Amino acid sequence: MVTISGKARLAGVLGWPVSHSKSPLLHNFWFERHGLDGVYVPLPVAPTDLASVVRALPRMGFLGCNVTLPHKAAMLDLVDTVDPLAAAIGAVNTVLVGKSGELNGHNTDGLGFLAHLDASVPDWRASTQRVVLVGAGGAARALAFTFLANGINELALVNRTPERAATLVGRLSDSAGAAVSALPWAERHRALEGADLLVNTTSLGMVGQPALDLDLAPLPPAAVVADIVYTPLTTPLLAEAERRGHRTVDGLGMLLHQAVPGFTHWGGTRPVVDEATRRLMLAPPVAEPNTG
Ligand code: ATR
Repeated sequence: MVTISGKARLAGVLGWPVSHSKSPLLHNFWFERHGLDGVYVPLPVAPTDLASVVRALPRMGFLGCNVTLPHKAAMLDLVDTVDPLAAAIGAVNTVLVGKSGELNGHNTDGLGFLAHLDASVPDWRASTQRVVLVGAGGAARALAFTFLANGINELALVNRTPERAATLVGRLSDSAGAAVSALPWAERHRALEGADLLVNTTSLGMVGQPALDLDLAPLPPAAVVADIVYTPLTTPLLAEAERRGHRTVDGLGMLLHQAVPGFTHWGGTRPVVDEATRRLMLAPPVAEPNTG
């Protein structure tokens, strides 16, 4: 049983709506597992109330919070400092309260993806030059800037809407030494030639969505295939990649690892991401008690 004292460490997740968020489940699991006196709560906050709520958090003793839709971009202007990676991505997903109550904004989405890749395919950095990203939305932006910040200089983007890919390429190309290109959606299959890592950043393949229509034949056999979709855990893309003998990386690890920097701050200890943590996140939600 969780015991919360008057000195409990406080954190939460800001969103609107926020009821679907799995972050409370994850962070409270870690508080309990590490024997810490702390609690992590959902914070349903409408966009019009965001600024006043954010300023109030340190005054109420909160050590930080995570930020989800639709607040990630608005948070950039509400914190006192923005980490350069979050500024480049244009979104904040983690706010850490500093010693004097100042709010420091970070983006750990891309770092979470890389941490999961490090854990799943330890040699990927040595063997990766060219990365192909499918998509040009918020997730692609987070991954692309994080790849560039971590020494991957060759990125190819394929997106259904070419203007969106072109805009992102324009922003990424400002990074010194980066070779970033956008390819038309019709050429997405050919874009896989010479790729070392392929990542689907779109929602295609998610339960209720069509599968990503991508012919993996041009992909070199040694290439790693990753998906950010985690429902189902084995997307049609990953199933096809496995069938062809590629090493694959599922989307669940990104969700878990992006939470590590925040918890390390408000929990005061680095949490472990392991099989038990993965099982927790995959468990179906606890049924509502039948009060009828
Ligand atoms: P997120 O912030 O999660 O990345 P998003 O900004 O809505 O979400 O981006 C969704 C991505 O999935 C986009 O790249 C989108 O392509 P468009 O820019 O052309 O909209 C892509 N996407 C969604 N549905 C798609 C579909 N049916 N076919 C191809 N791409 C799709």
